[in-house]
Amino acid sequence: MQYGHFDDVNREYVITRPDTPLPWINYLGCEDFFGIISNTAGGYCFYRDARLRRLLRYRYNNVPLDSNGRYLYIKDGATVWNPGWKPTRTPLDKYECRHGLGYTAIRGEKNGIEVRVTYFVPLGDSLELWDVTVCNHSPRARSLSLFGFVEWCLWDAQDDMTNFQRNFSTGQVEVEDGAVFHVTEYRERRNHFAYFACNAKPAGFDTARDAFVGVHEGLDCPRAVLAGRCTNSLAHGWAPVGALQLDFNLKPHASRRCHFLLGYAENREEQKYVRPGVANKAPFRAVAKRFAKSAAVEAARRQLQAHWEKLLGTFQAEVEDPHLARMLNTWNQYQCVATLNLSRSASGYETGIGRGMGYRDSNQDILGVVHLAPQRARERLCDLAATQLSDGTCFHQYQPLTKKGNSDIGGGFNDDPLWLPLAVAAYLKETGDASILKAKVGYADKNQKKATILDHLELSLRYTEHNLGPHGLPLIGHADWNDCLNLNCFSSTPGESFQCAGDIRGSRAESVMIAGLYCAACTEMAGLYEFLGQAEAARAILRRAETMRGAIVKHGWDGGWFLRAYDARGRKIGSRECEEGQIFVESQGWCVLGGVGLNDGRARLALDSVKARLATPNGIVLQQPAYATYHLHLGEISSYPPGYKENAGIFSHNNTWIQIAETMLGNGERAFEYYLSMCPSTKEAQIDTYRAEPYVYAQMTAGRDAPTPGEAKNSWLTGTASWAFVAASQHILGVKPTFKGLCIDPCIPRAWRGFKVRRVFRGKTYHIEVSNLRGVNRGVKKIAVDGEPLSGTVIPPEAGGKEVRVRVELG
Ligand code: BGC
Repeated sequence: MQYGHFDDVNREYVITRPDTPLPWINYLGCEDFFGIISNTAGGYCFYRDARLRRLLRYRYNNVPLDSNGRYLYIKDGATVWNPGWKPTRTPLDKYECRHGLGYTAIRGEKNGIEVRVTYFVPLGDSLELWDVTVCNHSPRARSLSLFGFVEWCLWDAQDDMTNFQRNFSTGQVEVEDGAVFHVTEYRERRNHFAYFACNAKPAGFDTARDAFVGVHEGLDCPRAVLAGRCTNSLAHGWAPVGALQLDFNLKPHASRRCHFLLGYAENREEQKYVRPGVANKAPFRAVAKRFAKSAAVEAARRQLQAHWEKLLGTFQAEVEDPHLARMLNTWNQYQCVATLNLSRSASGYETGIGRGMGYRDSNQDILGVVHLAPQRARERLCDLAATQLSDGTCFHQYQPLTKKGNSDIGGGFNDDPLWLPLAVAAYLKETGDASILKAKVGYADKNQKKATILDHLELSLRYTEHNLGPHGLPLIGHADWNDCLNLNCFSSTPGESFQCAGDIRGSRAESVMIAGLYCAACTEMAGLYEFLGQAEAARAILRRAETMRGAIVKHGWDGGWFLRAYDARGRKIGSRECEEGQIFVESQGWCVLGGVGLNDGRARLALDSVKARLATPNGIVLQQPAYATYHLHLGEISSYPPGYKENAGIFSHNNTWIQIAETMLGNGERAFEYYLSMCPSTKEAQIDTYRAEPYVYAQMTAGRDAPTPGEAKNSWLTGTASWAFVAASQHILGVKPTFKGLCIDPCIPRAWRGFKVRRVFRGKTYHIEVSNLRGVNRGVKKIAVDGEPLSGTVIPPEAGGKEVRVRVELG
């Protein structure tokens, strides 16, 4: 079945059937106000924090899936329908949804009436605009009603879904001039409210769900819509909603345009009320005034478009392969920004009440966005460092609104600290801005703002060095990158946290993956010290990395590949000696990325073992053979049925490390073959199996051991986004920021004749043209910068003018 297609020119994914295999979503907002929106207008929005400031109620795992959102109902005689098909699912004559950059445009047509709606969040504001046009394409005059509908969440999304003994009594609204204001808890400890309004005067409203929808009815047949009339209800407790009715009389071929405003507003404490019990609506009025006319809405849309064009303009490539082109130029970068904004907090799979910002996750997210949002990357790096504790461990997660570490989970995930050096180095290479190293951010447990970012980086390396196990390899703690490899947990009680149930103190379990990551972090830190002119410090760090490499070669090598770990009793994990879980992908990736075995053949052997044992047409599975039963000493990994998640699923994230590793060894064929095997755009060809959005990466595809191989889950918020962009742009196309300048060193399939890249870097625009007339994988024969020959592959920032022409010949 075909559900849609890419519109590459407009940077849109066009969905042509509403009954997609799963809801296919998009994000609205890029600053403080965010929403997720599906192709049938499902979803919700929030201010900054999906848990603590949620505006709209959304029922995850509802039946049908994704059945609450921003709905428009049309009542046309006896027919009731939605332009996005849901919730009524009245068959449409025409349907189309275009997910674009920061907006979603849905178009439905029924019996000659067409409704178009574009949803977006204007830059600099905390609201959604729904720009609606109703057209009568029929030759007769029509009278119809349009209802806009939202259901309010009582702010704290967790509490909203659980605490009904209280919440059914707290809900409050106000209605003024046809606008609905959600003011639950405004009378006590909140100074914010939400609003739902329309620039056209409504014929009626409802604010009580029971009145608008009914108690026993569903959103597919709301009573007020069926009756053709809102009841002007005022909610007192129960479930407050916002419903606005507009009546239209449309001559043949006439159309009407209006827009809804759904937003968030705050008042200062002393300005909360205009008179006792009446909220001060001034912040809303100011916004409504600015967006009174359609022209203003349109201008805001154009501004948003220009914003994205500018952002993406930082990196644009002309390549032969259409999948690579659209991912690199649009969707992959777009997804990177979504992960920067939301880390792992809110998606179709992340409920917004769970994980907040992840320490390792957000550090990795920086890698994919630092070129287009360096200032935001810098701020994020400082926030992240501030959740590191003075002993070097880090809060594994924190809440975006409060920026406070989550103490239920705490720290002790021993890879966490090492991602900060990688992310800070990426920032420095991109910007050259060493001032970040002096920024004072303190520690989460000692917040006197004494520690600088550089102190945090040093502490991160030392944390690993001070936490080594019996083989001189890093202790794993609760887990490393693989959250589900829990070697200290031994959980046999249902419902316990796999990561936190066990006591990691005194444990001897070690991670080869962290060892490789440590070496990579040392290399970055050495580069950083060299950049600062501290050659001796750089050399000292490189020596520390060499020591670790020695330990890996001695105790972390299994003959044909790198071991994965030692368990708490010192037994090998990821070894040919094991019955299951003989080879894991993460340690192959990170040992090579950490420079282990590059000159003695081990790296090549390890990657060949990955190819032979883990690679499948849909990507590289995480380990083999899958664990058939639960193993107490391994933890969550073996709790998954074979083929899913970390138990031999295809984890897209670590596929990218192998792609990079292959380029390091010059195998451009394999790197790109792996790239395509997990590239979402290629999945259109098998979409009924794949099911997830074909325009963004999913965290996982079921592996060959699963009963549903090739089926993807958990799209959007995954570290795959940033790493896939790094792999393709910096390692395959080879346009790579370094401390010393922009390096050009591609590693591509031999059949490519060449490619072009436009890259903005440290204030200059590089127009790079690579030709591969000799059909090689790798090897720069010559580079000319503005016509001048360059020795080596790194273009120093001072070379060339503002627009730098770079010609590269491979061969
Ligand atoms: C987490 C990552 C983790 C990965 C592998 C993801 O769900 O967000 O932090 O590295 O799973 O376990």
